Amino acid sequence: MAPRLHGQGGMTTAALQLKKRIAKLTTVDGWRWGLVRAEDELWERYFCVDTTAATVASRRDVPSESVRYEPLPWFLVRRGLRALRLRKGDVFVDYGAGLGRSLLMAGRQELERVMGVELLGTLAKLARDNVLAAKHRLKTPVEVLEVDATQWDVPDDVTVAYLFNPFFGAVMKAVQEKLRASLVRRPRALRILYAHPDDQPDLFAPCRWLALKQELGGGVYRSLHLKVYASTPALQAEVWPPPST
Ligand SMILES: C[S@@+](CC[C@H](N)C(=O)[O-])C[C@H]1O[C@@H](n2cnc3c(N)ncnc32)[C@H](O)[C@@H]1O
Repeated sequence: MAPRLHGQGGMTTAALQLKKRIAKLTTVDGWRWGLVRAEDELWERYFCVDTTAATVASRRDVPSESVRYEPLPWFLVRRGLRALRLRKGDVFVDYGAGLGRSLLMAGRQELERVMGVELLGTLAKLARDNVLAAKHRLKTPVEVLEVDATQWDVPDDVTVAYLFNPFFGAVMKAVQEKLRASLVRRPRALRILYAHPDDQPDLFAPCRWLALKQELGGGVYRSLHLKVYASTPALQAEVWPPPST
């Protein structure tokens, strides 16, 4: 088929797109976006997966206080996990695991175990497929659970929770309460990575059982904020009411 011609000096659509891309690359931001896309492609190839399928879930598929699937760019997953200082013995959970980006990146390290909690069955299945495809890159067992996070009792050995803006409102409150209840049952150190955009307030800020440890920018994603929170048995002893005797 003959290429479609545009008005501008008879340039084809493809040529116009190429011209636009080159123009973008002449700005600093253009270069930075180019690097983000290149790193995204590299990690997908490295793990032999496709976590980009943006159309697998639409806004209508998730309840009103849930956010539909959109992955955190790979460089921010890397940056967030580095800030969490994952170590042997850690039990990691991603709330709203989507297609499993953070699970794969965390699973590259030697941890105790890695879990993804995902509401939508279609996404959980694709995430499991991705874990299988990336098996040769993983050093830690990775499990994907198809479950509503509000209904999931946090295992009392979880030490790291990762949340890339998965939900808000009553859903977030219910999940925070599940985390808190687990710490009450078994006091221990817990780190949380929470990423949220400008238009979503920091929903962990009001939690007295957490202390803000670090704030990271989203780089070229200027509206994103990454925060590392931590809870310790000492802080928990301060804020929980003492057991009645
Ligand atoms: C913004 S995406 C985060 C994706 C993933 N964490 C990542 O960084 O690639 C939000 C995810 O949370 C899931 N989700 C929303 N509400 C949920 C709930 N109540 N329980 C479990 N998962 C939920 C959505 O289906 C979606 O996959």
